[in-house]
Amino acid sequence: MLYTLMHKIIPVAALEIDEVTIGILSIPEVYHLEHLPMGVPHHKGVIDRGLLNDWWLGRAIPASRSGLRDVLAVLGVRHSRELLVKCLGLSLSDQYWLCPQGKPLTWGDINFFENDFSEDVGNALFGRTSGDGELNLMSPDNTSDGWLKKKWVIADGKRVLLKGGSPPYYQEPFNEVLASRIMDRLSVPHVPYTLTWDGAQPLSACEDFINPNTDLVSAWRIFGSQKKPNHFSNYQHYVSCGENFGIRGIRESLDQMIAVDYLIVNTDRHFNNFGAIRNAETLAWLEPAPIFDCGTSMWHDQVEEVIAPAYKLASKPFKSNHADQIKLVSSFDWLNPAALLGIDEEYGELLKQSVVIDDKRRSKLCWALKRRVEMLTDAAALAH
Ligand SMILES: Nc1ncnc2c1ncn2[C@@H]1O[C@H](COP(=O)(O)OP(=O)(O)OP(=O)(O)O)[C@@H](O)[C@H]1O
Ligand SMILES: [Mg+2]
Repeated sequence: MLYTLMHKIIPVAALEIDEVTIGILSIPEVYHLEHLPMGVPHHKGVIDRGLLNDWWLGRAIPASRSGLRDVLAVLGVRHSRELLVKCLGLSLSDQYWLCPQGKPLTWGDINFFENDFSEDVGNALFGRTSGDGELNLMSPDNTSDGWLKKKWVIADGKRVLLKGGSPPYYQEPFNEVLASRIMDRLSVPHVPYTLTWDGAQPLSACEDFINPNTDLVSAWRIFGSQKKPNHFSNYQHYVSCGENFGIRGIRESLDQMIAVDYLIVNTDRHFNNFGAIRNAETLAWLEPAPIFDCGTSMWHDQVEEVIAPAYKLASKPFKSNHADQIKLVSSFDWLNPAALLGIDEEYGELLKQSVVIDDKRRSKLCWALKRRVEMLTDAAALAH
């Protein structure tokens, strides 16, 4: 079937999509190469179909998503890719979509930022079926990334992402709130997360930080937009790509992200967990994305016995441990350690709401956080 790949209201290219595999079979016409997704190359007007296809299929819910197999059965599809075309590839994190050729659809009529959407897919992802009626698969959940259970909802007219935790401690939602409180205290630009509940299950809630005029571009796509010189580290290459694009404040935002991740011992800051924001129409770069997705931290999946704040602890994305990664911070001038006084107690109060984190684990986590604050304070003093 023929579609036009659209970037908000701008046609990018005509795509022939295979109805069985949902892959891109051919690119019969090209309209606006400059609006191609970041990191998809073209040569003499010919788009790299393989990489465009990777981008397109990479928009589907990843196979690693918690509970996906059961959900697909409920929704009556074989693969999460099939859900992509059901929502025309629309997302709440950027402005790309597919317009079926010959159908008079406009972005204004169908985008999820300004139009209501069905919660059928989101409910299925949370193990709820919506009765016998036909399911409405027009949902931004079809293009949501990440392995944790999550769904978009509309609350008071705002688009809000609800995200669960993982067994056995379901600690991620609490950690998201902790990270928000830390970044509030340190005046670090971040996505604010709050705690909410689905029955007995804790969830984090955060508002969409993208709006109808913006795109979130992942660090991975920015990193891949230029060839990395052999003598550059990944850190140097990312900063250089950002600076070449003219993304202001990229180094400062990495300083803050690395330091916050050091504090909370984040183990999963991969290249899709940070990035930058651009204007979807003018393509002008606006700013580094506010820090989001901090839940995989504070020994969230580790037993209490191994909570040891002074060890060389695993990190991403630039160095394999936090002790080395913190050395990449170019300036701590923005850091006021005194603002973190009592954050351990605040975390303790938060964790009291969990029904699976016992007193022993809670005390150990609070002690470990206090220790990490001291360690960051020392690292900052050493850097002066
Ligand atoms: N508030 C938001 N506004 C817009 N897009 C968002 C927001 N939060 C998350 N996203 C998008 O959704 C993706 C998945 O969200 P998130 O990273 O929080 O999930 P996750 O399951 O914890 O991911 P991971 O697999 O890294 O653990 C993000 O990579 C980002 O593209
Ligand atoms: Mg993520």
